[in-house]
Amino acid sequence: MSDTVDCWRPRIHYTPLRGWINDPNGLVYYRGKYHVFAQHNPVAPDNRTPMHWAHAESVDLLRWNHLPIALVPDKPFDIGGCWSGSAAEDEGRLHLVYSGVSGEKAEIQSVCLATSADGIAFGKDRANPVIPGPPPGFSRDFRDPRVFRHGDKWRIVIGTSRDGRGCALLYESSDLVGWKFLGPLAASDGTRGTMWECPDFFMLEGRGVLVVSPIGVPGVGSMALIGRMEEDATRLAVEEMVVLDYGPDLYAPQTMAGPDGRRIMIAWMDHWGSSKPPTVSAGWRGAFTIPRAIAPGPGGKGLSIAPVPELAAARGDVALDGPGSITAETADIDIELEDTGGETGCFEIVLRGSPDGSRGTRISFLKGDDALVLDRTKSGRVSGGITRIPVAAKSGKRIKFRVVLDACSVEVFSGDPPTVPCSALIFPEPGDKILSARVTGNGVGLAGFRAWPVN
Ligand code: FRU
Repeated sequence: MSDTVDCWRPRIHYTPLRGWINDPNGLVYYRGKYHVFAQHNPVAPDNRTPMHWAHAESVDLLRWNHLPIALVPDKPFDIGGCWSGSAAEDEGRLHLVYSGVSGEKAEIQSVCLATSADGIAFGKDRANPVIPGPPPGFSRDFRDPRVFRHGDKWRIVIGTSRDGRGCALLYESSDLVGWKFLGPLAASDGTRGTMWECPDFFMLEGRGVLVVSPIGVPGVGSMALIGRMEEDATRLAVEEMVVLDYGPDLYAPQTMAGPDGRRIMIAWMDHWGSSKPPTVSAGWRGAFTIPRAIAPGPGGKGLSIAPVPELAAARGDVALDGPGSITAETADIDIELEDTGGETGCFEIVLRGSPDGSRGTRISFLKGDDALVLDRTKSGRVSGGITRIPVAAKSGKRIKFRVVLDACSVEVFSGDPPTVPCSALIFPEPGDKILSARVTGNGVGLAGFRAWPVN
């Protein structure tokens, strides 16, 4: 750890104590708590050491309590890394189904099983690897098993590709050890990626939802394929494709069911191409998104994606009510714009602005446009650009959106109900803490504006 102040450490987002994280793994509600695991290098803020699984638990999805490392790559079948996977509870025991990777170039990819009686210490199964490799005809990129219940059986979906097209394969088991290949659940039509990483699958009000992070689709970090289940639920007839985030920093989302059945999604708030963040001098790198509640979208189309209600419940006293300016490093902000009839107008909010106004992260809306504009060109130690966030679901002449600001991130949830968010990293200069909002011109009005600190 250097002497750099750990000023970009998020308050309400999961980050590793030290070292590196990427994908969220093994999301599960177990014995009264939410658990997340993470692809993790415990020794340095890079991915040059074979991946471990970090582990944390939370009661409110905002404050995470770190637990001992759950998986260490120490067996011939996972010596190259315990790569991504998922978790399931069975009669009180917690099972992790993960990718065991070996070979000089991580080319041997298998499915492995580890089990715990207390949810803390995991023992690797003697039968490992429980699936030694892909079925004939599929790529050796064969990883990220997502386990779920199907009747009295277990199923997994696993990411791979065939003939250069991403696909998700389905397997079934009655004991998590012996697996039968059922065929592809879905595959790319040629436009949806050359390989599918980190598949996640769940049913949402009668429809099947397959989430994947495709390789080779510019501008798409992760997407959901939604449709009808056919052939004894072994095939997804895709009816809709939705991008899961407009921002640059979202990858490998996974979901879990809450105790009441609600669907909660958490993703890696970063991506493989990003440049080294300044947090590495404080010894860590990588964060997860704010947990998001997933529901069917407006009119039953697409998805509604909103911060879990726990976030609004953690708000303190209102810090800014209407246009103006305050000092804030983190905030939860509700904004509602209205069309006031005039010809020109602009709403603008600046986050983590510098006292002289030369730096800051800007989100603006220009009258007549159909998008919010997120400008990270002056967001500090990040080479961010401009991202357009299509304005979703204008209700009448109003536009609603919400901004969640933490020490190194901005997440924008636009629409009522919110649909596709925008997640982006920022690394403001430590002294830049001004949050300000204003409206100019006579065409855009502020029907609502409130910013809260998050406790
Ligand atoms: C996705 C991914 C997975 C893999 C893991 C390795 O980000 O490439 O496919 O299991 O990361 O850390």
